[in-house]
Amino acid sequence: MDPKKLVKIALEVREKAYARYSGFRVGAALLTKSGRVFTGVNVENASYGLTVCAERVAVFKAISEGEREFVAIAIASDSSEKTVPCGACRQVLYEFCEDLDVIMADREGNYEIVKLRDLFPRGFKLGGEEH
Ligand code: THU
Repeated sequence: MDPKKLVKIALEVREKAYARYSGFRVGAALLTKSGRVFTGVNVENASYGLTVCAERVAVFKAISEGEREFVAIAIASDSSEKTVPCGACRQVLYEFCEDLDVIMADREGNYEIVKLRDLFPRGFKLGGEEH
């Protein structure tokens, strides 16, 4: 899929963000190997630490629908700067796909693509025979 199309989906879904406390709305669109797109938005909470980022919502939706192989994720917000995934989301994405294309967009739809392994080198993985 054209990265521009995935960015457009992320920008559109951003409208559904529940960003009552920060006012910072984020949208994510995760493309699977099978061609499906799972969207996510940030969901904030009065107990601030319970907030979940848009990227993780998209990943958890995909996993819970039986999809585990990912090609790309587009991330967008209301910012004039390109939105980069936070460290926690990088680790969650890394669990499933080091080769992921991370498409970071600004509110106008301009974007930059970086491989997850370059954004997040040496992420944590359980090693050893038992895992
Ligand atoms: N946020 C995301 O949704 N994704 C990120 O990668 C960074 C931060 C959200 C969390 C919170 O609702 C708001 O942006 C401000 O931190």
